[in-house]
Amino acid sequence: MQEDFLPINGTDHVEMYVGNAKQSSLYYQYAFGFEQIAYAGPETGVKDRASYVLKQGKIRLVLTTPLQQDHPIADHIKKHGDGVKVLALWVDDAEKAYQETTSRGAESYEAPKVISDDNGEVKVASIRTYGETIHTFVERSNYNGPFLPGFVEKKSLYTPTPVGFKFIDHCVGNVGWGEMNKWVEFYEKVMGFNLLVTFDDKDISTEYTALMSKVVSNGNGYIKFPINEPAEGKKKSQIEEYLDFYNGAGVQHMAIATDNIIETVSELRRRGVEFLEVPGTYYDDLLDRVGAIEEDLEPLKKLNILVDRDNEGYLLQIFTKPVQDRPTLFFEIIQRKGAKSFGKGNFKALFEAIEREQALRGNL
Ligand code: FE2
Repeated sequence: MQEDFLPINGTDHVEMYVGNAKQSSLYYQYAFGFEQIAYAGPETGVKDRASYVLKQGKIRLVLTTPLQQDHPIADHIKKHGDGVKVLALWVDDAEKAYQETTSRGAESYEAPKVISDDNGEVKVASIRTYGETIHTFVERSNYNGPFLPGFVEKKSLYTPTPVGFKFIDHCVGNVGWGEMNKWVEFYEKVMGFNLLVTFDDKDISTEYTALMSKVVSNGNGYIKFPINEPAEGKKKSQIEEYLDFYNGAGVQHMAIATDNIIETVSELRRRGVEFLEVPGTYYDDLLDRVGAIEEDLEPLKKLNILVDRDNEGYLLQIFTKPVQDRPTLFFEIIQRKGAKSFGKGNFKALFEAIEREQALRGNL
């Protein structure tokens, strides 16, 4: 086996560009149970933007907004709405990660640089991926501040109770017509990822919508990036709807792992998070389809949690509705009980649920 030229320790953080970071921060605290840990903005010497850092389990979510209209972040928000800009990867050697990927054809976003403050230093470098999304390599062997140099510790007056989020299980990108293979190849050749699984439109088309998907994963399997592209169906693909409103390729959903999906989803629902609903009939023959599971059926049905099984075990999953007014980014909550797959058995029920929402928006 070839040596992994891009060893990755895990997801370092995810940064979203949003229209109002102060309010988004409270949304993710109140609704999703993230704790605010750090901040950078005018009060800390950053004049052009404000960034709030939230944490739950191993997940760090950064919410950034520009303070003036003539700002690249403002352009990003005008075009895409609120969305994911940075999928940051934690590495031991940011310089090497940058060299290995750019020498294989990655387009540079920012050359390696050292940033430092009283808490030490961090090395970062960034490359472009699909759409306007970037990967930042973060090397933090010599840093003990709350997030990155330039950020100060800043708690919120509100202390949220966590909902059981552990880590990011996978992060899905939607790309344009005919572009899936190009980006799969990018992850294989430029980043040394492996192709895990392929879904074609026969697997996942409903009567109307259709899409194709391939999943790539890094050497140790910590990073999993499914890549979707729209496919021709009778009506508009859900991926096409995303592309229309995001104005191009971007992150479609982040799947967050929990050890107890029933508790996590009960708590999220109590706090007002909206989820896609599948019909009650989904549960009629569920156990025939997936076999015995440890959970009682009733709470799963009540909460609309879906179940799927593969050769290695089963998984429980549920999808939120989009978390902003544009039908773009949403979240998945997932609990794996051995299964390493992505819920293929649920695609039909799920996509029909998405189509009902698309129809309500007038976009089907
Ligand atoms: Fe997913």
